[in-house]
Amino acid sequence: MKANCWYGKRDVRVEEVPDPKIINRGDAVVKITTTAICGSDLHLYNKLVPTMEKGDILGHEFMGEIVEVGSEVRKLRQGDRVVVAFPISCGKCFFCARELFSLCDNSNPNAWMAQKLYGQSPAGLYGYTHMLGGFAGGQAEYARVPFADVGTIKIPNGLTDEQVLFLSDIFPTGYMAAENCNIQPGNTVAVWGCGPVGQFAIRSAFLLGAERVFAIDRFPERLRMAKEGQAETINYENVGVYDTLMEKTGGLGPDSCIDAVGLEAHVPGAIGAYDRVKQAMMLESDRPHVFRQALFACRKGGTVSVAGVYGGYDDKIPLGALMNKALTLKSGQTHVQHYMQPLLAKIQNREIDPSFVITHRLPLGDAPEAYETFFNKVDGCIKVVLKPHQTYQ
Ligand SMILES: NC(=O)c1ccc[n+]([C@@H]2O[C@H](COP(=O)([O-])OP(=O)(O)OC[C@H]3O[C@@H](n4cnc5c(N)ncnc54)[C@H](O)[C@@H]3O)[C@@H](O)[C@H]2O)c1
Ligand SMILES: [Zn+2]
Ligand SMILES: [Zn+2]
Repeated sequence: MKANCWYGKRDVRVEEVPDPKIINRGDAVVKITTTAICGSDLHLYNKLVPTMEKGDILGHEFMGEIVEVGSEVRKLRQGDRVVVAFPISCGKCFFCARELFSLCDNSNPNAWMAQKLYGQSPAGLYGYTHMLGGFAGGQAEYARVPFADVGTIKIPNGLTDEQVLFLSDIFPTGYMAAENCNIQPGNTVAVWGCGPVGQFAIRSAFLLGAERVFAIDRFPERLRMAKEGQAETINYENVGVYDTLMEKTGGLGPDSCIDAVGLEAHVPGAIGAYDRVKQAMMLESDRPHVFRQALFACRKGGTVSVAGVYGGYDDKIPLGALMNKALTLKSGQTHVQHYMQPLLAKIQNREIDPSFVITHRLPLGDAPEAYETFFNKVDGCIKVVLKPHQTYQ
Protein backbone atom coordinates (compact mmCIF):
# COMPACT_ATOMS: atom_id res chain seq x y z
CA MET A 1 0.00 0.00 0.00
CA LYS A 2 0.94 3.66 -0.16
CA ALA A 3 1.65 5.64 3.01
CA ASN A 4 3.05 9.01 4.00
CA CYS A 5 6.34 8.40 5.84
CA TRP A 6 8.56 10.59 8.04
CA TYR A 7 12.18 10.98 6.99
CA GLY A 8 13.45 13.94 9.00
CA LYS A 9 13.03 17.67 9.39
CA ARG A 10 10.50 18.92 6.76
CA ASP A 11 10.94 15.65 4.84
CA VAL A 12 7.92 13.37 4.36
CA ARG A 13 7.52 10.97 1.44
CA VAL A 14 4.68 8.91 0.03
CA GLU A 15 6.04 5.41 -0.44
CA GLU A 16 5.08 1.78 -1.02
CA VAL A 17 5.10 -0.06 2.34
CA PRO A 18 3.88 -3.50 3.44
CA ASP A 19 0.10 -3.83 4.01
CA PRO A 20 -0.93 -3.93 7.68
CA LYS A 21 -2.03 -7.28 9.09
CA ILE A 22 -4.01 -8.49 12.09
CA ILE A 23 -1.45 -9.12 14.86
CA ASN A 24 -3.63 -9.47 17.97
CA ARG A 25 -7.11 -10.95 18.27
CA GLY A 26 -8.66 -7.57 19.10
CA ASP A 27 -7.27 -5.85 15.98
CA ALA A 28 -9.10 -4.72 12.88
CA VAL A 29 -7.76 -3.47 9.55
CA VAL A 30 -9.37 -0.35 8.10
CA LYS A 31 -9.35 0.73 4.47
CA ILE A 32 -8.93 4.47 4.89
CA THR A 33 -11.34 6.67 2.96
CA THR A 34 -10.37 10.04 4.48
CA THR A 35 -7.48 11.19 6.68
CA ALA A 36 -6.09 14.55 7.76
CA ILE A 37 -2.99 16.45 8.84
CA CYS A 38 -2.97 17.75 12.42
CA GLY A 39 -1.02 20.54 14.13
CA SER A 40 0.56 17.72 16.17
CA ASP A 41 2.03 16.30 12.94
CA LEU A 42 3.83 19.61 12.46
CA HIS A 43 5.83 19.02 15.68
CA LEU A 44 7.15 15.82 14.05
CA TYR A 45 7.61 17.55 10.69
CA ASN A 46 9.76 20.16 12.42
CA LYS A 47 11.64 17.44 14.33
CA LEU A 48 10.81 18.99 17.69
CA VAL A 49 9.80 15.72 19.34
CA PRO A 50 12.39 12.97 19.88
CA THR A 51 12.20 9.23 19.03
CA MET A 52 10.94 9.35 15.45
CA GLU A 53 12.59 6.93 13.02
CA LYS A 54 13.03 7.17 9.26
CA GLY A 55 10.16 5.45 7.46
CA ASP A 56 7.59 5.87 10.26
CA ILE A 57 4.05 6.14 8.86
CA LEU A 58 2.42 9.40 9.97
CA GLY A 59 -1.19 10.31 10.70
CA HIS A 60 -3.66 9.93 13.56
CA GLU A 61 -6.91 11.39 12.20
CA PHE A 62 -8.52 8.78 9.96
CA MET A 63 -11.67 6.88 9.10
CA GLY A 64 -12.74 4.23 6.66
CA GLU A 65 -14.20 0.80 6.13
CA ILE A 66 -13.41 -2.33 8.14
CA VAL A 67 -11.86 -4.93 5.83
CA GLU A 68 -10.74 -7.54 8.37
CA VAL A 69 -11.32 -8.25 12.07
CA GLY A 70 -9.47 -10.39 14.61
CA SER A 71 -11.22 -13.31 16.32
CA GLU A 72 -11.96 -11.35 19.54
CA VAL A 73 -13.51 -8.28 17.90
CA ARG A 74 -17.16 -8.19 19.00
CA LYS A 75 -18.71 -4.94 17.80
CA LEU A 76 -17.38 -4.68 14.27
CA ARG A 77 -17.63 -6.59 11.05
CA GLN A 78 -16.36 -6.30 7.52
CA GLY A 79 -17.93 -3.37 5.69
CA ASP A 80 -18.66 -1.24 8.79
CA ARG A 81 -17.84 2.43 8.35
CA VAL A 82 -15.87 3.78 11.32
CA VAL A 83 -13.95 6.75 12.67
CA VAL A 84 -10.85 5.82 14.71
CA ALA A 85 -9.85 7.65 17.94
CA PHE A 86 -6.20 8.78 17.95
CA PRO A 87 -5.23 7.36 21.38
CA ILE A 88 -4.89 3.57 21.42
CA SER A 89 -6.70 2.29 24.52
CA CYS A 90 -7.39 -1.17 25.91
CA GLY A 91 -10.77 -0.35 27.47
CA LYS A 92 -10.00 -2.39 30.60
CA CYS A 93 -7.15 -0.90 32.63
CA PHE A 94 -7.47 1.44 35.66
CA PHE A 95 -7.42 4.50 33.37
CA CYS A 96 -9.73 3.21 30.62
CA ALA A 97 -12.21 2.14 33.32
CA ARG A 98 -12.32 5.81 34.34
CA GLU A 99 -12.65 6.91 30.68
CA LEU A 100 -9.19 8.51 30.82
CA PHE A 101 -8.44 6.81 27.51
CA SER A 102 -5.33 8.82 26.56
CA LEU A 103 -3.72 7.51 29.75
CA CYS A 104 -4.23 3.80 28.96
CA ASP A 105 -1.66 1.62 30.72
CA ASN A 106 -1.78 -1.23 28.20
CA SER A 107 -1.18 0.29 24.78
CA ASN A 108 2.35 1.66 24.79
CA PRO A 109 4.93 -1.11 24.27
CA ASN A 110 7.68 1.50 24.77
CA ALA A 111 6.28 2.82 28.04
CA TRP A 112 9.77 2.70 29.58
CA MET A 113 10.89 5.51 27.27
CA ALA A 114 8.05 7.81 28.27
CA GLN A 115 8.54 6.88 31.94
CA LYS A 116 12.07 8.23 31.78
CA LEU A 117 10.81 11.60 30.55
CA TYR A 118 7.46 11.90 32.38
CA GLY A 119 7.51 9.54 35.35
CA GLN A 120 4.65 7.48 33.88
CA SER A 121 3.66 6.76 30.30
CA PRO A 122 0.49 7.92 28.54
CA ALA A 123 -1.29 5.73 25.94
CA GLY A 124 0.19 4.71 22.61
CA LEU A 125 -0.78 6.96 19.69
CA TYR A 126 -1.05 6.32 15.95
CA GLY A 127 1.58 7.82 13.71
CA TYR A 128 3.55 9.35 16.52
CA THR A 129 6.89 8.86 18.24
CA HIS A 130 8.45 5.57 19.33
CA MET A 131 8.27 6.90 22.86
CA LEU A 132 4.48 6.67 22.37
CA GLY A 133 4.53 3.22 20.81
CA GLY A 134 5.78 3.76 17.27
CA PHE A 135 2.42 2.65 15.83
CA ALA A 136 1.92 2.99 12.07
CA GLY A 137 -0.40 5.89 11.36
CA GLY A 138 -3.37 6.64 9.15
CA GLN A 139 -1.99 8.81 6.36
CA ALA A 140 -2.06 5.60 4.37
CA GLU A 141 -4.35 3.40 2.33
CA TYR A 142 -4.86 0.96 5.24
CA ALA A 143 -4.17 0.85 8.97
CA ARG A 144 -4.16 -1.71 11.74
CA VAL A 145 -6.44 -0.67 14.61
CA PRO A 146 -5.53 -2.38 17.91
CA PHE A 147 -8.34 -2.78 20.51
CA ALA A 148 -10.72 -2.06 17.63
CA ASP A 149 -13.90 -2.43 19.72
CA VAL A 150 -12.73 0.39 22.00
CA GLY A 151 -11.07 2.72 19.51
CA THR A 152 -13.75 3.05 16.84
CA ILE A 153 -17.20 4.51 16.47
CA LYS A 154 -19.60 3.26 13.79
CA ILE A 155 -20.95 5.97 11.53
CA PRO A 156 -24.61 5.84 10.54
CA ASN A 157 -25.68 6.46 6.94
CA GLY A 158 -26.43 9.97 5.83
CA LEU A 159 -23.28 11.63 7.16
CA THR A 160 -20.32 12.43 4.91
CA ASP A 161 -16.71 11.57 5.79
CA GLU A 162 -15.96 15.28 6.14
CA GLN A 163 -18.73 15.76 8.71
CA VAL A 164 -17.49 12.99 11.02
CA LEU A 165 -13.73 12.60 10.40
CA PHE A 166 -12.77 15.09 13.10
CA LEU A 167 -14.38 12.94 15.80
CA SER A 168 -10.97 11.22 15.61
CA ASP A 169 -9.20 14.15 17.26
CA ILE A 170 -9.73 17.89 16.82
CA PHE A 171 -13.45 18.14 17.63
CA PRO A 172 -13.10 16.17 20.89
CA THR A 173 -9.85 18.05 21.57
CA GLY A 174 -11.48 21.48 21.27
CA TYR A 175 -14.47 20.20 23.24
CA MET A 176 -12.38 18.73 26.08
CA ALA A 177 -10.36 21.96 26.23
CA ALA A 178 -13.61 23.91 26.71
CA GLU A 179 -15.15 21.34 29.08
CA ASN A 180 -12.01 21.54 31.23
CA CYS A 181 -12.83 25.25 31.71
CA ASN A 182 -15.93 24.34 33.73
CA ILE A 183 -17.82 27.14 31.97
CA GLN A 184 -20.60 28.81 33.99
CA PRO A 185 -23.39 30.96 32.50
CA GLY A 186 -22.06 34.43 31.71
CA ASN A 187 -18.42 33.30 31.56
CA THR A 188 -15.77 34.69 29.25
CA VAL A 189 -13.24 32.38 27.59
CA ALA A 190 -10.02 33.37 25.80
CA VAL A 191 -8.62 30.99 23.18
CA TRP A 192 -5.01 31.34 22.02
CA GLY A 193 -4.56 29.88 18.52
CA CYS A 194 -7.19 29.83 15.76
CA GLY A 195 -5.90 26.68 14.08
CA PRO A 196 -8.29 23.73 13.78
CA VAL A 197 -8.08 22.96 17.53
CA GLY A 198 -8.72 26.59 18.46
CA GLN A 199 -11.70 26.72 16.07
CA PHE A 200 -13.31 23.73 17.79
CA ALA A 201 -12.47 25.14 21.23
CA ILE A 202 -14.28 28.38 20.30
CA ARG A 203 -17.40 26.62 19.06
CA SER A 204 -17.37 24.17 21.97
CA ALA A 205 -17.09 27.01 24.50
CA PHE A 206 -20.32 28.47 23.10
CA LEU A 207 -21.98 25.01 23.02
CA LEU A 208 -21.09 24.74 26.73
CA GLY A 209 -22.65 28.10 27.56
CA ALA A 210 -19.89 30.72 27.36
CA GLU A 211 -21.22 34.26 26.94
CA ARG A 212 -18.17 35.72 25.19
CA VAL A 213 -15.16 34.06 23.56
CA PHE A 214 -11.99 35.95 22.63
CA ALA A 215 -9.88 34.40 19.88
CA ILE A 216 -6.18 35.25 19.52
CA ASP A 217 -4.03 34.68 16.41
CA ARG A 218 -2.35 36.68 13.66
CA PHE A 219 -3.51 35.06 10.41
CA PRO A 220 -6.49 36.96 8.91
CA GLU A 221 -8.23 33.87 7.47
CA ARG A 222 -8.01 32.06 10.81
CA LEU A 223 -9.32 35.11 12.68
CA ARG A 224 -12.11 35.41 10.10
CA MET A 225 -13.17 31.80 10.70
CA ALA A 226 -13.12 32.45 14.47
CA LYS A 227 -15.34 35.48 13.94
CA GLU A 228 -17.75 33.38 11.89
CA GLY A 229 -17.93 31.21 15.02
CA GLN A 230 -19.05 34.32 16.99
CA ALA A 231 -15.70 34.94 18.69
CA GLU A 232 -14.32 38.46 19.27
CA THR A 233 -10.93 38.41 17.60
CA ILE A 234 -7.59 39.78 18.77
CA ASN A 235 -4.65 40.04 16.36
CA TYR A 236 -1.64 39.88 18.66
CA GLU A 237 0.54 41.59 16.07
CA ASN A 238 -1.59 44.72 16.29
CA VAL A 239 -2.49 44.99 19.98
CA GLY A 240 -1.23 43.80 23.36
CA VAL A 241 -3.01 40.57 24.33
CA TYR A 242 -3.03 41.13 28.11
CA ASP A 243 -4.19 44.77 27.86
CA THR A 244 -6.92 43.93 25.36
CA LEU A 245 -8.23 41.03 27.43
CA MET A 246 -8.27 43.17 30.59
CA GLU A 247 -10.09 45.94 28.74
CA LYS A 248 -12.69 43.55 27.33
CA THR A 249 -13.38 41.98 30.74
CA GLY A 250 -13.68 45.16 32.81
CA GLY A 251 -10.25 44.62 34.37
CA LEU A 252 -10.98 41.08 35.63
CA GLY A 253 -9.31 38.89 33.00
CA PRO A 254 -11.09 36.03 31.21
CA ASP A 255 -12.73 33.41 33.48
CA SER A 256 -10.84 30.74 31.58
CA CYS A 257 -7.97 30.64 29.13
CA ILE A 258 -7.37 27.91 26.55
CA ASP A 259 -3.91 27.33 25.11
CA ALA A 260 -4.61 25.84 21.65
CA VAL A 261 -1.10 26.61 20.41
CA GLY A 262 1.45 24.51 22.30
CA LEU A 263 5.17 24.11 21.86
CA GLU A 264 5.59 25.89 18.53
CA ALA A 265 4.22 29.26 19.60
CA HIS A 266 5.27 32.17 17.46
CA VAL A 267 6.92 34.60 19.83
CA PRO A 268 7.59 38.15 18.77
CA GLY A 269 10.30 40.24 20.45
CA ALA A 270 13.12 39.53 22.91
CA ILE A 271 11.50 36.78 24.99
CA GLY A 272 10.98 35.02 21.66
CA ALA A 273 14.68 35.02 20.96
CA TYR A 274 15.28 33.49 24.41
CA ASP A 275 12.97 30.51 23.72
CA ARG A 276 14.07 30.06 20.12
CA VAL A 277 17.75 29.93 21.04
CA LYS A 278 17.22 27.63 24.02
CA GLN A 279 14.97 25.31 21.97
CA ALA A 280 17.47 25.21 19.09
CA MET A 281 20.29 24.35 21.52
CA MET A 282 18.07 21.65 23.11
CA LEU A 283 18.28 23.46 26.44
CA GLU A 284 14.51 23.87 26.49
CA SER A 285 11.98 21.48 24.91
CA ASP A 286 9.27 23.93 23.94
CA ARG A 287 8.39 27.59 23.38
CA PRO A 288 5.85 28.05 26.20
CA HIS A 289 5.04 31.67 25.36
CA VAL A 290 1.27 31.20 25.13
CA PHE A 291 1.13 29.19 28.34
CA ARG A 292 2.91 32.04 30.12
CA GLN A 293 0.49 34.62 28.68
CA ALA A 294 -2.54 32.53 29.64
CA LEU A 295 -1.38 32.18 33.27
CA PHE A 296 -0.73 35.91 33.38
CA ALA A 297 -4.03 37.04 31.80
CA CYS A 298 -6.42 34.61 33.49
CA ARG A 299 -8.86 35.99 36.07
CA LYS A 300 -8.04 35.20 39.72
CA GLY A 301 -9.57 31.85 40.61
CA GLY A 302 -10.00 31.00 36.92
CA THR A 303 -8.93 28.00 34.85
CA VAL A 304 -6.11 27.59 32.36
CA SER A 305 -6.84 24.70 29.99
CA VAL A 306 -3.95 23.42 27.88
CA ALA A 307 -4.82 21.56 24.67
CA GLY A 308 -1.65 22.56 22.81
CA VAL A 309 1.02 19.86 22.95
CA TYR A 310 4.15 20.32 25.07
CA GLY A 311 7.01 17.86 25.02
CA GLY A 312 9.39 18.28 27.87
CA TYR A 313 11.00 20.74 30.24
CA ASP A 314 10.41 24.47 29.94
CA ASP A 315 11.68 27.70 31.49
CA LYS A 316 10.27 30.85 33.01
CA ILE A 317 6.81 29.50 33.73
CA PRO A 318 5.04 31.97 36.06
CA LEU A 319 4.24 29.48 38.82
CA GLY A 320 3.81 32.47 41.09
CA ALA A 321 0.77 33.53 39.06
CA LEU A 322 -0.65 30.01 39.14
CA MET A 323 -0.31 29.75 42.92
CA ASN A 324 -1.05 33.27 44.09
CA LYS A 325 -4.06 33.76 41.79
CA ALA A 326 -5.44 30.35 42.83
CA LEU A 327 -5.71 29.17 39.23
CA THR A 328 -6.81 25.70 38.16
CA LEU A 329 -4.67 23.99 35.53
CA LYS A 330 -6.19 21.30 33.28
CA SER A 331 -4.59 19.49 30.36
CA GLY A 332 -4.03 16.20 28.56
CA GLN A 333 -4.01 14.38 25.30
CA THR A 334 -7.69 14.06 24.56
CA HIS A 335 -9.72 11.13 25.93
CA VAL A 336 -11.26 10.87 22.47
CA GLN A 337 -13.29 7.68 23.01
CA HIS A 338 -15.16 9.39 25.87
CA TYR A 339 -16.40 12.13 23.52
CA MET A 340 -17.08 10.35 20.22
CA GLN A 341 -20.68 9.25 20.89
CA PRO A 342 -21.98 12.51 22.43
CA LEU A 343 -20.27 14.64 19.79
CA LEU A 344 -21.59 12.43 16.97
CA ALA A 345 -25.04 13.14 18.42
CA LYS A 346 -24.36 16.88 18.18
CA ILE A 347 -23.42 16.46 14.52
CA GLN A 348 -26.60 14.45 13.90
CA ASN A 349 -28.70 17.10 15.69
CA ARG A 350 -27.09 19.73 13.46
CA GLU A 351 -25.69 21.65 16.44
CA ILE A 352 -22.39 21.71 14.54
CA ASP A 353 -20.99 20.63 11.17
CA PRO A 354 -17.25 20.05 11.71
CA SER A 355 -16.49 20.21 7.98
CA PHE A 356 -16.47 24.04 8.24
CA VAL A 357 -12.76 23.91 9.10
CA ILE A 358 -11.59 22.20 5.87
CA THR A 359 -9.81 24.43 3.35
CA HIS A 360 -7.82 21.86 1.32
CA ARG A 361 -8.75 18.47 -0.16
CA LEU A 362 -5.98 16.46 -1.83
CA PRO A 363 -5.01 12.90 -2.81
CA LEU A 364 -2.61 11.14 -0.40
CA GLY A 365 0.13 11.40 -3.02
CA ASP A 366 0.19 15.16 -2.45
CA ALA A 367 0.97 14.82 1.27
CA PRO A 368 4.47 16.37 1.02
CA GLU A 369 3.11 19.55 -0.61
CA ALA A 370 0.16 19.54 1.79
CA TYR A 371 2.51 19.48 4.81
CA GLU A 372 4.47 22.37 3.39
CA THR A 373 1.34 24.44 2.74
CA PHE A 374 -0.14 23.68 6.19
CA PHE A 375 3.16 24.37 7.96
CA ASN A 376 3.77 27.67 6.16
CA LYS A 377 0.11 28.69 6.61
CA VAL A 378 -0.03 29.86 3.00
CA ASP A 379 -2.86 29.64 0.45
CA GLY A 380 -5.39 30.27 3.23
CA CYS A 381 -4.68 26.78 4.58
CA ILE A 382 -6.39 25.90 7.86
CA LYS A 383 -7.14 22.16 7.59
CA VAL A 384 -6.10 19.60 4.97
CA VAL A 385 -7.90 16.33 4.32
CA LEU A 386 -6.26 13.63 2.22
CA LYS A 387 -7.96 10.95 0.15
CA PRO A 388 -5.82 7.77 0.11
CA HIS A 389 -7.76 5.99 -2.64
CA GLN A 390 -8.32 8.97 -4.89
CA THR A 391 -6.22 8.98 -8.02
CA TYR A 392 -5.12 12.01 -9.97
CA GLN A 393 -7.54 13.30 -12.62
N1 LIG B 1 -4.37 17.71 23.42
C1 LIG B 1 -4.54 16.96 22.33
O1 LIG B 1 -4.93 15.82 22.41
C2 LIG B 1 -4.28 17.57 21.00
C3 LIG B 1 -4.91 17.09 19.86
C4 LIG B 1 -4.71 17.74 18.64
C5 LIG B 1 -3.84 18.81 18.57
N2 LIG B 1 -3.20 19.23 19.70
C6 LIG B 1 -2.29 20.37 19.68
O2 LIG B 1 -3.03 21.57 19.57
C7 LIG B 1 -2.20 22.58 19.01
C8 LIG B 1 -2.93 23.26 17.87
O3 LIG B 1 -3.20 22.34 16.83
P1 LIG B 1 -3.75 22.86 15.44
O4 LIG B 1 -4.03 21.68 14.60
O5 LIG B 1 -4.82 23.84 15.65
O6 LIG B 1 -2.38 23.56 14.88
P2 LIG B 1 -2.06 24.83 13.98
O7 LIG B 1 -0.58 24.85 13.88
O8 LIG B 1 -2.85 24.82 12.73
O9 LIG B 1 -2.56 26.07 14.85
C9 LIG B 1 -1.80 26.76 15.78
C10 LIG B 1 -2.24 28.22 15.73
O10 LIG B 1 -1.62 28.93 16.79
C11 LIG B 1 -1.32 30.22 16.32
N3 LIG B 1 -0.29 30.84 17.16
C12 LIG B 1 1.06 30.68 17.13
N4 LIG B 1 1.65 31.45 18.03
C13 LIG B 1 0.67 32.14 18.66
C14 LIG B 1 0.67 33.13 19.68
N5 LIG B 1 1.80 33.56 20.24
N6 LIG B 1 -0.54 33.63 20.11
C15 LIG B 1 -1.71 33.21 19.55
N7 LIG B 1 -1.75 32.28 18.55
C16 LIG B 1 -0.58 31.76 18.12
C17 LIG B 1 -0.86 29.99 14.90
O11 LIG B 1 -0.89 31.17 14.11
C18 LIG B 1 -1.87 28.93 14.44
O12 LIG B 1 -3.00 29.51 13.83
C19 LIG B 1 -0.91 21.87 18.59
O13 LIG B 1 0.07 22.01 19.59
C20 LIG B 1 -1.32 20.43 18.52
O14 LIG B 1 -0.25 19.55 18.71
C21 LIG B 1 -3.41 18.64 20.90
ZN1 LIG C 1 -3.92 15.54 16.33
ZN1 LIG D 1 -6.42 0.91 29.01
